[in-house]
Amino acid sequence: MSLGGARERDARGTRLSCIRGAALALCLFAGPAAAAEMTLKAAAASSGRYFGAALDSGDFDEKPYVRLATEELSAVTPENAMKWAVVEPARGVFDWRAADRLFAFAQANGQKIRGHTLVWHQQLPAWLTGGTFAPAELRQLMIDHVTLEASRYRGADYAWDVVNEPFADDGAWRPSIWLQAMGPDYVETALRAARAADPQAKLYINDYNVESAGPKMRALYELAASLKRKGAPLDGVGFESHLVAGSPLGDMREVMQAFADLGVDVAVTELDLRIKTPPDAKALDTQAADYAKVIGACVAVKECVGVSTWGVTDAHSWTPFFFAGYGAALPFDESYQPKPAFFAAIDALTRAERQ
Ligand code: XIL
Repeated sequence: MSLGGARERDARGTRLSCIRGAALALCLFAGPAAAAEMTLKAAAASSGRYFGAALDSGDFDEKPYVRLATEELSAVTPENAMKWAVVEPARGVFDWRAADRLFAFAQANGQKIRGHTLVWHQQLPAWLTGGTFAPAELRQLMIDHVTLEASRYRGADYAWDVVNEPFADDGAWRPSIWLQAMGPDYVETALRAARAADPQAKLYINDYNVESAGPKMRALYELAASLKRKGAPLDGVGFESHLVAGSPLGDMREVMQAFADLGVDVAVTELDLRIKTPPDAKALDTQAADYAKVIGACVAVKECVGVSTWGVTDAHSWTPFFFAGYGAALPFDESYQPKPAFFAAIDALTRAERQ
């Protein structure tokens, strides 16, 4: 009998008793079959955290996808639906259908929404990148966009990735139309516009390759520190964590703690751990160990509010398209069955409770 089968059959029985029961850890110590009855969101809730994932409403017609998205997740990030190119394909012409659909899905399931993303150098509409706007116009366009989108979901979004990926890997400011128009001040301007539009949402800067100490991490740290010194509305720093399984990542806990000590929340926002495809058992175990390491870093930091993966199942993941020869990066496989990474995630999420 496959573990996946056990998950299906006992979905209303053992799994619920594990979730509701006081001795959460017992379910885990009873072995993988019992752990298969645990959900990621219940495991994360055991230490007051959420477990989320990026979703795409285009996949909602697949029943197993919807089942995993509702049963496993307590937070949702729109993978693409809220990006500027999607919501304003032509100047002044708005299309909120995909965003609203995801939003309604998350609300119906009592899930937090991590809005993603307001100001980025990618997935911008062609009218914007191909236009000839003066710096002051671009500044106003950015403020108007942030205001419009953040107001639309005011009071309902848990958090916003206000500024996405502001740095290049060497720690230099990443060239973008925003940097060109406003210099580094665009970050603070965007944060202030977002705060005015949605005062309750936690406002984040989000980036990748900042999970270990290095020039990019230090640049982000200096930015966060200077924003806090200025009293700018920065509430959180997101560690995307698009990683290759098997690469050393020894200091993520210390890095996250250093940011948290600046007075911000931290979160793992886009976790996936890609491996060479097709994966063998050894690679899947290495990947599982790395899931445990990254999630373990989060649960070891009090200010780390939750973990989100970038997708749920290997059937729908950006990794094979963006990293040639790699994929299989998520906790559920292409048939929606839990992988060793799933069990490692459950174990790491409940470790805080067991200690
Ligand atoms: C990716 C999506 O997953 C893809 O579908 C899309 O084609 C490109 O963007 N960092 C981010 C995310 O902040 O928005 C990116 O999402 C992945 C990298």
